Amino acid sequence: MILAAGKGTRMRSPTAKVLHPLAGRPMVRLLLDSLRSIPKFKPVVVIGHDRDQVKAALGAGVETVVQWPARGTGHAVQVARSKIARTSEVVVMPGDAPLITPETIRRMLDLHRRSRALATVLTAEPDDPAAYGRVVMHSDGAVEKIVEAADADPATLTIHRINTGFYVFDSKSLLSVIGKIGSSNKKGEYYLTDAIELLARRGRVMGLNTDDTDEVAGINTQAELARMEGVLQKRLRRKLLECGVQIPHPQEVYLEPDVTVEPTARILPGTHLSGRTVVKSGAVIGPDTFVSDSRIGPRARVWYSVVEGADVGTGVTVGPYAHLRSGARLAENSRIGNFVEVKESTVGRRAKALHLAYLGNATVGDEANIGAGTITCNYDGFKKYPTRIAPRAFIGSNTALVAPVTIGAGAVVGAGSVITRNVPSDSLAIERSPQVIRPGWAKLKRALARRIAGSNRAPGKRKHS
Ligand code: UD1
Ligand code: CA
Repeated sequence: MILAAGKGTRMRSPTAKVLHPLAGRPMVRLLLDSLRSIPKFKPVVVIGHDRDQVKAALGAGVETVVQWPARGTGHAVQVARSKIARTSEVVVMPGDAPLITPETIRRMLDLHRRSRALATVLTAEPDDPAAYGRVVMHSDGAVEKIVEAADADPATLTIHRINTGFYVFDSKSLLSVIGKIGSSNKKGEYYLTDAIELLARRGRVMGLNTDDTDEVAGINTQAELARMEGVLQKRLRRKLLECGVQIPHPQEVYLEPDVTVEPTARILPGTHLSGRTVVKSGAVIGPDTFVSDSRIGPRARVWYSVVEGADVGTGVTVGPYAHLRSGARLAENSRIGNFVEVKESTVGRRAKALHLAYLGNATVGDEANIGAGTITCNYDGFKKYPTRIAPRAFIGSNTALVAPVTIGAGAVVGAGSVITRNVPSDSLAIERSPQVIRPGWAKLKRALARRIAGSNRAPGKRKHS
């Protein structure tokens, strides 16, 4: 059960706290995704603030219960009673501590079952216990109670062992005490932590301590969110480094959890890899490159570029300063250069577009050459039309190809042409006004200009140099 109904006032943000992203994903979704490997995982999320958006962020197959208004973590569990009734044990966790590992949850479950506890609390001992609830222990090592920082006396505040907000409960025991929680405390809320004290009077409540204070750190402010982004990024990079990905300046690389990078690929500073991006072995990405939802093939090189929803083939080079958009498919050893934009287009093997071009809804054949400044005019303001450029065609610089249009195999288009009709294979198409030459014209023009300037100058007002 994930508690995610609170607003998160300390975030000072109009959106609910659990929607704030970590590695590009709402934190509550990140938490859910990371727990899917737990056997018999059947998540129930308590939602309240921004419940429609939170529900949408959870994805399919997640049950929700609405808590409104939100009157505390104990109240959240009360509202979700009916879901607990169908289970034998329940793991309760805060929606604002998304870096917990499934391993730790498993360790809690193990300890809980082995010791036949009524509840098990995950605790930690951070350097600064700050606003966390303090865990008071019996001398035999069992938990006696949890005291919220706001309600604690100075002696209790010196306790270093804190409540992380993660618990395992025996379902029957939890249901038997959840209605007995009161709200006579500093915040006037129903604290779930009070259930721990009630259960500790009836039987055993265990405490499991984790050494990794980062995995349980709650996010309550923008500063804490930023710090946890750093922790998560470090984790994601470490995973890649460990399997042989080369990242010479790791702190300058941004990653998302669904990104796959093969060993021997090299990720240079300023690179963002997001969504379902796959980078194959030997590829070099960056510096300063954004790649989302794309495949970068073996030994491809992409630098100073933006790549979105594209498929970059083996040995392809992209950039500097190229923009590949959705549906750009670049075949083996093709080359896309400076200020070239490609959208919904296929570029054939060893084909080149190296300078200042736009290819939209185009099919470019193998070994075709797209000259500088070539534009496919694919849109008439209403619909998109295809341009077909067959293998080995040569498109001269500054050409407009007005779609729909086909350039045949091995054809040549003269520079500066506006091509509106199909060009047959191996022919030349040129669309250009005849060039005019006027011998001596420029010299005469200069002489004339000098004469006019001389006659306009007033006598006696000659310039000093
Ligand atoms: C809570 C614990 C505290 C612990 C800390 C760990 C209580 C009373 N205190 O404090 O002992 O050290 O977590 O991070 O439980 N929520 C609801 N409904 C509500 C209130 C909160 O769903 O009515 C959700 C919030 O959205 C959030 C989570 O529960 O995701 C924790 O709530 P929060 O207000 O952040 O609790 P803390 O004050 O941090
Ligand atoms: Ca919190």
